[in-house]
Formats: sequence, structure tokens, C-alpha cells
Amino acid sequence: VSDMLADTFGRLHTYLRISLTERCNLRCQYCMPAEGVELTPSPRLLSQNEIVRLANLFVSSGVTKIRLTGGEPTIRKDIEEICLQLSNLSGLKTLAMTTNGITLANKLPRLKECGLSLLNISLDTLVPAKFEFMTRRKGHERVMKSIDAAVELGYNPVKVNCVVMRGFNDDEICDFVELTREKPVNVRFIEFMPFDGNVWNVKKLVPYSEMLDIVVKRFTGLQRIQDHPTETAKNFRIEGHQGTVSFITSMTEHFCAGCNRLRLLADGNFKVCLFGPSEVSLRDPLRRGADDNELTHIIGAAIKRKKAAHAGMFDIAKTPNRPMIHIGG
Ligand code: GTP
Ligand code: 5AD
Ligand code: SF4
Repeated sequence: VSDMLADTFGRLHTYLRISLTERCNLRCQYCMPAEGVELTPSPRLLSQNEIVRLANLFVSSGVTKIRLTGGEPTIRKDIEEICLQLSNLSGLKTLAMTTNGITLANKLPRLKECGLSLLNISLDTLVPAKFEFMTRRKGHERVMKSIDAAVELGYNPVKVNCVVMRGFNDDEICDFVELTREKPVNVRFIEFMPFDGNVWNVKKLVPYSEMLDIVVKRFTGLQRIQDHPTETAKNFRIEGHQGTVSFITSMTEHFCAGCNRLRLLADGNFKVCLFGPSEVSLRDPLRRGADDNELTHIIGAAIKRKKAAHAGMFDIAKTPNRPMIHIGG
């Protein structure tokens, strides 16, 4: 791994998240305001060639995992070609995607052929009417179908991301755990995080300790699985269940010490921390004709400025950041 990917705390950043678009076919409340967000004019968004050029630089420097995010990544018309080009980069071990599953089911066989190896699907409720409330759109059944399609195509586990918000879906935690009884899915309960425009409030946050308590009281035989040091999730298995259950505790027990994640946004800005306000453009030097050496220098310097951890939930709620739809998680 090249020194470019190392920070001053000894962390190696071998996982790059690429946001492919700022657009989405849902309007989730925890992700964007009702009125939507300002979109970057399309000439200022990275083209397919620019994405592949930058990804190639990261992978040749030691990145082994790329995750495609958005907005909603499947909205991009060239999504298959992008997957194909990225999965062919020599040195890349994992090509992953985080998607809302709305238009996934029929695209998935082809995406799999194009090298998509890991799939995380967002689903916050099992009740169609609540889905419409949270996402301000219809589509619950389509997401459920996409999860099944992914299981049938052999994605194992399919990760199901569930952002838990008090008063909205905290009463469905056990129903989500039930999904893991017969399906080889990894249900991941995520603490609600603050981003610009999502009206975060600590009262809506259901802490990990409380979620775990709810699961422990209802299900016997819950066992912690040792997780990888760079993972976002704390993982558990339940005796007799095909799937697993996890918690992403960004707010109450952050996992910054093991962070290996970098972010390339759709407008070409590079972000070394989900909650750090600082961003540096890679698009501008690229379009000026910068060579790999110059880009390596810019990227390396940004990574060296990365902080040990995020500033704590109340401080990050006060610090300006982008709306989640621009960052992609
Ligand atoms: P895997 O690669 O399958 O482990 O997925 P992931 O957790 O890296 O990515 P995913 O897009 O599924 O994100 C799940 C949740 O974790 C989302 O709410 C993300 O915002 C959050 N998350 C992902 N990366 C980070 C991170 O670096 N820091 C924090 N605090 N949260 C993160
Ligand atoms: N807090 C926690 N998770 C969030 N996600 C989007 N917004 C938030 C938030 N405010 C999740 C999405 C998706 C992943 C990329 O991040 O549900 O699964
Ligand atoms: Fe990494 Fe920043 Fe997330 Fe912490 S908050 S895990 S440093 S991206």
C-alpha cells in the first residue's frame, strides 16, 4: 500500500466510496429536505472516464474495495459500464454498491455479470404506508423484491440497512430480526446521524444499547461475531437463523479508530471523513491536466490532514456538512 493512503494515526485507507450521482428516485427524510437539494450542473460532475481514471489511481496505490453510492447509483445510465471498468482494475478485490433497491431487481443479473460482488440495500420499514411517509414516494414492494432477487442471485449475505428513528420504526426492530430467520440477509440497524437538511434531533436517535436490549429480550441465543477491525458494524448471530443482525453505532460508539474509508463525491470532491467539513477537488486538477504524481500529492496531503475521530454527536450536528444525498453514506 502506498504512503498516499496512510494518515498520521497509522490508518490505511484501502476502501473508496464513490458517489455516482446526486439524484435519487426516493426522498428519504433522514437524507434530504422535502424541497430536495441543489444539484451540481452536469458539466461539473465527473464523467465515466474521469471516475475510472481516479479509481485506477486509487487502486494502483492500494485500494482494494470500491463501493458505489449516490444519490441512487442505479439511476446512472452508464452504471453497467462503470461496474465493468472498475471491476477490471487489477488489484481491486471487492466492488460493492449501496442502493435503495427501487429499480434493482431487473438490473441485477447484468450488474452481477459486470462484477458487482457485494450488495447493501436500504430498507427502513416493513410497512408500506410508513415507507411512503419516510421516502415520500411509493415502492416498498419493489425493494422487497430486489432483496429476494439479490438472495436468489447468490449475494450472501445481502445487507439490509435500516436507519432506526424513534417514533418511526423503533417498534419494528424485532420484525426486522425475524427476516433473518429464513433469509440469508444481514440486517443492520443504523443509528440516525445528523447531516445538513435532515432535522436531526437526539430524541430521534435510538442508541445501540437500547436497540440491543430490545433484541436480547425477545431472541434467545444471540452471539457476538468477531468483526473485522475496519468494519462499520458490530455483528451478531442468532441460533437457528440463516441471516445475521448488526448495529452501526456511529453516534454512541464511533468506530473511527479502525476507519479505512475515503469518499469521492459526484462533483469530484474528495472527502476523508464522513463528518469532516473539509473537501478538496480532484476534478479541477484533473481537468487542468494534472498527472498521477500531482494527484497523488493532493490526495496524500488530504489524508494526512484527517482527524483521529469525528467530533462527537453534538458537535457534528452543529458543524456544516453536506446533505447525506451528496455524500452517499
Ligand atoms: P460494508 O462494506 O458492507 O461493510 O458496508 P458499509 O457499512 O461500509 O457501507 P454502507 O453504505 O452500507 O453504510 C452503512 C451505514 O454506515 C450508513 O449509515 C453509512 O453512513 C455508515 N457509514 C459508512 N461508512 C462510515 C464511516 O466511515 N463513518 C461513519 N461514521 N459511518 C459510516
Ligand atoms: N443516518 C444514518 N444512516 C443514514 N443513511 C442515510 N442517511 C442516514 C442518516 N442520516 C444510510 C442509508 C443508506 C446508507 C448509505 O446510509 O439508509 O443505507
Ligand atoms: Fe471514519 Fe470519519 Fe466515519 Fe470516523 S466519522 S469512521 S473517521 S469517516
